[in-house]
Amino acid sequence: MPSKNSHGTSRAVGHLGERVAGNLLIRNSAMVTAGRIVEGDLRVAGGKIVAVAPGGGLEPRNDELVIDGDGLHLLPGAIDPHVHFREPGQPEKEDLESGSRAAAAGGVTAFLDMPNNIPNATNRTTLETKIALAGKKAVTHHGFFIGATKDNIRDLQSVEGMDGVCGIKVFMGSSTGDLLVHEQKHLENIFANTGGIIATHAEDEERLQARIAEFGHRTDISSHAECRDVECAFLATKRAAALAKDYDHRLHIVHLTSGTEADWLTNNKGDLVTTEVCTQHLTFDQDDVEELGERVLMNPPIRYTEDKETLWKRLKDGTIDCVVTDHAPHTLEAKSVGFPKAPAGMPGVETSLPLMLTHAMNGKCSITDVVRWMCEGPAKVYGMRGKGSLSEGMGGDLVLVDMENHRTFTDADTWTRVGWTPFNGMSLTGWPMLTVVDGQVVHSRDQGGSLRGNEVAMPGSAGRVLEFD
Ligand code: DOR
Ligand code: ZN
Repeated sequence: MPSKNSHGTSRAVGHLGERVAGNLLIRNSAMVTAGRIVEGDLRVAGGKIVAVAPGGGLEPRNDELVIDGDGLHLLPGAIDPHVHFREPGQPEKEDLESGSRAAAAGGVTAFLDMPNNIPNATNRTTLETKIALAGKKAVTHHGFFIGATKDNIRDLQSVEGMDGVCGIKVFMGSSTGDLLVHEQKHLENIFANTGGIIATHAEDEERLQARIAEFGHRTDISSHAECRDVECAFLATKRAAALAKDYDHRLHIVHLTSGTEADWLTNNKGDLVTTEVCTQHLTFDQDDVEELGERVLMNPPIRYTEDKETLWKRLKDGTIDCVVTDHAPHTLEAKSVGFPKAPAGMPGVETSLPLMLTHAMNGKCSITDVVRWMCEGPAKVYGMRGKGSLSEGMGGDLVLVDMENHRTFTDADTWTRVGWTPFNGMSLTGWPMLTVVDGQVVHSRDQGGSLRGNEVAMPGSAGRVLEFD
């Protein structure tokens, strides 16, 4: 900042010395709002959107930063409701600062972080610690899940309605870390005695363990999807949906991976159940697993072309509510031990928006679809107050993207502390030129400059705890 627009002129034309933090005018961009794209101006004052003017005409004031958005698209800041930043416990992989920076670089202005930390975030004290740390280190808005164990009902109850706490995470099947609740009586106890949203990692533990024993001799990575098969996922998804119904409890099924589950949910979701899909499950299939190996090893696995296509179909018909990353940073060194010992999970929070916008440019979907799935959808699923759309009264969380500039993203361009990306070498467009949180610029890129871009905000200087309805 300031950066050059396509005509080579300076984008920021405001009077920086006089401007008030949180005041911003973006002129002449293509604003993606309420399912439409309209050219015009948008003003943020005091951190909130105060004017959306199709056709433009907002006169610059000298207390605001003025940005020329000509040739760029303006989107609501993306919301990633499924990330695993590794704080506390493994800051060498990711902490709330590096994770939040990566988010900002990717146009993500709010994240919801999972509880499988060291120690696990399973009580009020650990949640309060994470919230306090994020206040000091993050540059984006933030919320946190509390992890369920077989006997922490009181802890789960103690954070109900607390600002910054978005829901309860239940690992019904084992994955990274040791959080696990798989016995029916314990699951029933949680559904019967808590409120809010339960988000489940739906893989059936009994079938999983039996199959892990059975597949133990296989060292080819293609056996991962055979072992943790569709039936593992489908059994748990059906079981979780039945619990939601029996106990009249909101349920969100995280990272849906199979066509079978997606098709089943179309007729069986009802009003209580929502679900999500990861960018990588919309992008990769068995051939990428073969080619990229441990880099794309995750739980539940990358599956098959048919699954990928059905996930797209069910995203478009509204069965799947939002697109997330499951950003799970593991080091390449840890991955290098090879399958099956390599840890599961891949980073993604800084690539999700360009990746989806690239899919849009390739005709897979529209830009308004991407906003529906990555901004409005997560805000709706979690009841995030004041988030997810470009309308007056909403928070001033914005991302100004360049749809016309394909660039090849590599490991060297990442902000995540693990320093690599499963999309290494891919040509992507839709790069955020400016990411704004509450009217404050937190990340910028210069036309023709480094793809990594510039960190603008100091740790802790932007972003707040999210509030949930
Ligand atoms: O692949 C995964 N990695 N799946 C999970 O459920 C957890 C995640 C992690 O935290 O590494
Ligand atoms: Zn996850």
